[in-house]
Amino acid sequence: MKKYNISIIKGDGIGPEIVDEAIKVLDAVSYSCGFSLEYKEYLMGGIAIDVTGAPLPEETVEGVLNSDACLFGAIGGEKWDTLPRELRPETGLLSFREKMGVYANLRPAIIYDELVNASTLKPEVIEGVDIMVVRELIGGIYFGKPRANDGETAYNTMIYTKSEIVRIGKKAFELAMKRDKRVCSVDKANVLEVSQLWRDTMEELALDYPSVELSHMYVDNAAMQLVRNPRQFDVIVTGNIFGDILSDTASMVVGSIGLLPSASTGDKTAIYEPIHGSAPDIAGQGIANPIATIESAGMMLRYSLGESEAADKIDTAIKKALKEGYRTKDLAAFDAKEVVTTAEMGDIIANNINK
Ligand code: IPM
Ligand code: MN
Repeated sequence: MKKYNISIIKGDGIGPEIVDEAIKVLDAVSYSCGFSLEYKEYLMGGIAIDVTGAPLPEETVEGVLNSDACLFGAIGGEKWDTLPRELRPETGLLSFREKMGVYANLRPAIIYDELVNASTLKPEVIEGVDIMVVRELIGGIYFGKPRANDGETAYNTMIYTKSEIVRIGKKAFELAMKRDKRVCSVDKANVLEVSQLWRDTMEELALDYPSVELSHMYVDNAAMQLVRNPRQFDVIVTGNIFGDILSDTASMVVGSIGLLPSASTGDKTAIYEPIHGSAPDIAGQGIANPIATIESAGMMLRYSLGESEAADKIDTAIKKALKEGYRTKDLAAFDAKEVVTTAEMGDIIANNINK
């Protein structure tokens, strides 16, 4: 029997609850498809600060690098917000992404037919939306140096090298080849030098992919267009901070931030995580939506383990649960037949695997 080693980082807030449900579903699907998953848990974020004094223990870095893939929940919370920046949970996450070399963050925004009413946008605007946001994850203004804040003046640096743009651009074009063959590159080239290099590099790359149509959009316009007519997009490729903002927008287009999974990929390993945060305000109440994390586990099976049949089974099991009217509290107002807890939703999806 095939065996995979999966590193697990539950994190803070609702992290542990949603990851537990994803593991439940992974156990059901691995059993049903005849492979086995061995999990090892590691600390990161606030809990790591509490237990070890640092947001990213060395053991976590090594453990994840030695695993086949990592499933991650969420980190952060008010309790750690006043710590100096280098000790904050978010700094741990950024340094984790950097150390894992996961430069390409894939954030699919796909509408579930059962939830067309859950979006704040009209059903006729969002029906059929299927967008892949490809966000550069370990460069740009998040990591650029110099950076400082002396209390009077503060600055950050938005920096991209050509090779960083090429590797993320390639990823976007390759993905587009398997989809609708359209890439929209988002930048702010009317103002920023770094965006001009981004745009020129995308144009150069496009020559290698003649069957893919490349377009460019300024980020302000892209934010507007996502809400005006989201169906116009296939693959969106953009830098770190623009991708952060646009993927949150895309999540609301499809209904709830509790639904969007993501894959952070590179040449060494991959991290799978929901795009939402640790939501400390609702932690421990059993009302978090585990679907984004369960979908992330599905992406892990598909992209890192090559178990696409198992990934398909997860997709089908989630759709069935939604079709039957099961909803967590965030979606209670949208065609719910029964409002269920986080754990009940996990049970329902896991049971659907074997039907
Ligand atoms: C995300 C989050 C992170 C980011 C934060 C928690 C540092 O918002 O994964 O989108 O900005 O990348
Ligand atoms: Mn974000």
